[in-house]
Amino acid sequence: MTATEIRIVKDTLHADCELIEKYIDDTAEKRAAGVPKRLFESMEYSLKAGGKRLRPILCIEAACRCGVKRTDALPLALGFEMLHTATLIHDDLPCMDDDDMRRGKPSNHALFGETLAVLAGDALLAQALAFPMKELKNIPAANVLNAVGIFAEAIGPAGVCGGQVLDMFDCGSEKKDYVRTVAALKTGALIRAAVVSGAALGVSDSDTLKRYGEYAAHLGSAFQIVDDILDETSTAEELGKTPGKDKEQGKLTHVTVYGMDRARSIALEESEKAKAVLCEKLPSDDFLLLLPDYLVTRSN
Ligand code: IPE
Ligand code: IPE
Ligand code: MG
Ligand code: MG
Ligand code: MG
Repeated sequence: MTATEIRIVKDTLHADCELIEKYIDDTAEKRAAGVPKRLFESMEYSLKAGGKRLRPILCIEAACRCGVKRTDALPLALGFEMLHTATLIHDDLPCMDDDDMRRGKPSNHALFGETLAVLAGDALLAQALAFPMKELKNIPAANVLNAVGIFAEAIGPAGVCGGQVLDMFDCGSEKKDYVRTVAALKTGALIRAAVVSGAALGVSDSDTLKRYGEYAAHLGSAFQIVDDILDETSTAEELGKTPGKDKEQGKLTHVTVYGMDRARSIALEESEKAKAVLCEKLPSDDFLLLLPDYLVTRSN
């Protein structure tokens, strides 16, 4: 990537991130209404612990390429970050990956205890669905319904939940296919839904939504491959979570199944495929076309 291309990606990530962080703060009172204080503290702790905010950024950027104002997409974008945060809280539990560090801080259960961590994850998940339904404005009702439906499906048994089951229990089958399927579900489903439902706020034609879906599926695949690579190569300081977890727990990952070099080349291939899907539809310096390569070279 050229220096200019990297600048375009960084500037967009930074600007969107600021927008999302401010929206998290601005909506805190509303989101806290009627919620027991202790529960809200636990939810907000993980939501505000940082993170790259990739899913809400993708949601906003897809929406604005489909004619929606960035600010009008924010309620759905925040829904995605709540949902993602819920999955991280549960992923870190002792009964799952058993990690006491997340986003550079003690993970939720390490600070609030397992009971509250389970419930904070559930609560974030439920609020993630209810909040956009209530807060999305200036969007036709049919588009809101479509977007929230896509969103709800992604977290379910044929999405993240199913992927986490496959990740926790080695269910046999051919290892190379298996590891790709796990990634497509546990990580790809939410990344795909963030892009597709963002687009669905503005358009309903199935060709466009399918195209965005294919783009995001490849992006999500590349993203999880890099996550597997970083688990082996990075440090706790850089990652903000405990490295070496996959090996310690004997997980099947792209690195264990394909080897480090092949895993890297598959990530690059997936990045190329993501770009190829949208390259005729967007200018060559569009953020969405630059992002896949940028994410493949990420260090956290
Ligand atoms: C971590 O996601 C979990 C995966 C699906 C690989 P991110 O790497 O996007 O985590 P944050 O949001 O930046 O903390
Ligand atoms: C995470 O996969 C997927 C979800 C949280 C749904 P990992 O278990 O690889 O994520 P990290 O490495 O703990 O962030
Ligand atoms: Mg996991
Ligand atoms: Mg994990
Ligand atoms: Mg991982």
